[in-house]
Amino acid sequence: MSAPHWLRFPAGFLWGTATAPTQVEGHIENEWTGFTAQDGSNCRVACDHYHRYPEDIQWMQQLGTNAYRFGIEWSRLQSAPFAPLNPLELARYVDQIERLLAAGITPMVVLHHFSNPPWINATGGWTNPATIAAYVDYVHRLVTALRGKVFLWNTFNEPDTYACVAYLLGGFPPHHKWQLGKFRRVINHMARAHAQASRVIRREGQVAGHKVEVGIAKNWTFFHAYKPYSPWDRLTAYACHYTFNKFVLDAFLGRWRRRASTFIGLNYYGRVRFHHFAAMIPASGTPVRRLRDFGFVCDDMVERYPEGMGKILTYLHRKFRLPIYITEHGAASHDENFRELDLRKNLTALHGAISAGVDVRGFFYWSLLDNFEWQFGYTKKFGLLAVDFSDAKLPRTPKPLAKVYAGICRKNGFLQTEPG
Ligand code: FCB
Repeated sequence: MSAPHWLRFPAGFLWGTATAPTQVEGHIENEWTGFTAQDGSNCRVACDHYHRYPEDIQWMQQLGTNAYRFGIEWSRLQSAPFAPLNPLELARYVDQIERLLAAGITPMVVLHHFSNPPWINATGGWTNPATIAAYVDYVHRLVTALRGKVFLWNTFNEPDTYACVAYLLGGFPPHHKWQLGKFRRVINHMARAHAQASRVIRREGQVAGHKVEVGIAKNWTFFHAYKPYSPWDRLTAYACHYTFNKFVLDAFLGRWRRRASTFIGLNYYGRVRFHHFAAMIPASGTPVRRLRDFGFVCDDMVERYPEGMGKILTYLHRKFRLPIYITEHGAASHDENFRELDLRKNLTALHGAISAGVDVRGFFYWSLLDNFEWQFGYTKKFGLLAVDFSDAKLPRTPKPLAKVYAGICRKNGFLQTEPG
């Protein structure tokens, strides 16, 4: 074991937390409003971040964070294609952003995070090319309204996950299964929308002396065969890698499209291994205990694979030569020691990549709060703060990991005691 030593991050590194409107805000009218999760719950109130954001910003300050990645919910702001923005809803988001800025917290705004206005869904959502123009119009209005306040923009969160779970696996609305054509169409339309929105954001979001940054957040999952000599599991893993990683990266960042991004957002959680065609992860129904018998280390969602953090950062850096933000990383578990170890291992790998020359500018922990984890409802505990959903006041309580993370954010690094 090596002697303890400090891992320091570059000056100006962003340390943040991340959330998404449907998962935390509550009081939203989109395709998730009528959705019932596997635990019987819904997102109609969620964490009530919609009303409690001033308190949540105070929590962010206590965590020592200097950045916050959150979504602006399109369905709140426009009631029809090309309509003016709703002034009251806009004012609420402006207040949220101004409070963040006053607290020294840099906002990163996500424009699309797994949800659309009802009038977009009614016309086929992202399978319909007409959605591109509607989205770009919305982005134009919003960026103009927030000029001078927001300089970090995420056009799409995990288009791969959205298109996969909504059109291949059927877990997200509109619950289509194995519609590979629709999957591809959604990705291609979003990629076109990203390129057009990026031009608008850079033109309209610019003020003197401030550079505007724009990129997508790509979920990166490693897909491997549990037994490397199993041809079928290797084939399954390769098909997933090809569809969700390669095809999606090419659509958004391939050839001339690379110019549409000034950074890459990377959401990194871990890997999926296949055994007899089955995905060996808790999220697909295999219990964590059983996976332990296979020698897998998992949170309540996927297999942890901290070595992958360095691998994917190096790959993206070499391929695209763009700055990278870790727009999401986190672990869902009731075991806080496990979550701390996971965080340290992943940050150690991240630090290693930075030392080797990869330009990483920030890290956003998923998530600030325990929240509505889509199909899984409130059962997956990703928060730095626990939320008591049985109490109508939805009180927040910091978990042990909150203290650990606050220490890292404040010191811009941590004491490395474990071997990397
Ligand atoms: C990511 C999503 C985010 C949350 C985390 C756990 O794929 O972007 O909304 O569900 O996973």
